[in-house]
Amino acid sequence: MAYLLVKYLHVTCVLISVSLFVLRGALALMSRPWRQRRVLHVAPHMVDTVLLGSALWLAWRIGQYPFVNGWLTAKVLGLLAYILLGMRALGKNTPRSQRLPFFVAALLTVGYIVGVALTHSPSWELLSS
Ligand code: HEM
Repeated sequence: MAYLLVKYLHVTCVLISVSLFVLRGALALMSRPWRQRRVLHVAPHMVDTVLLGSALWLAWRIGQYPFVNGWLTAKVLGLLAYILLGMRALGKNTPRSQRLPFFVAALLTVGYIVGVALTHSPSWELLSS
């Protein structure tokens, strides 16, 4: 029961995190001053902290760990890539022409992570026979 609740919390945080990223990305692409809105600064940090905390708790509960089990390693590295690509997409000093490619790459990375989550496989089970 607790496991399912935390899993729903984890997935809810994923949905909010990606929605906030899409909102900030869209505003940045339209050159709108989203940084002036305090909520768009604070909320993503809070949501991402709960996302990671719930991820670690779920991993502990099922006894599978990043850097031991491949799919969880892929999720952690994917999360790192999502954060770095997202920072470039939203960065103050990122040239306008580079925002969209970084934004799209960050969203593709989240898509990859969701695939890994659903299949428990870094290759989405495409390589297993
Ligand atoms: C943006 C990053 C992440 C996304 C998009 C994401 C997505 C998801 C989704 C959609 C599920 C539900 C899968 C299902 O229905 O069975 C899930 C479960 C889970 N995630 Fe994440 N996750 C992320 C980060 C992480 C990280 C970094 C870890 C590593 C510790 C992690 C560990 C887990 C675990 C252990 C489960 C439960 C798997 C199960 O019960 O079968 N997640 N994640």
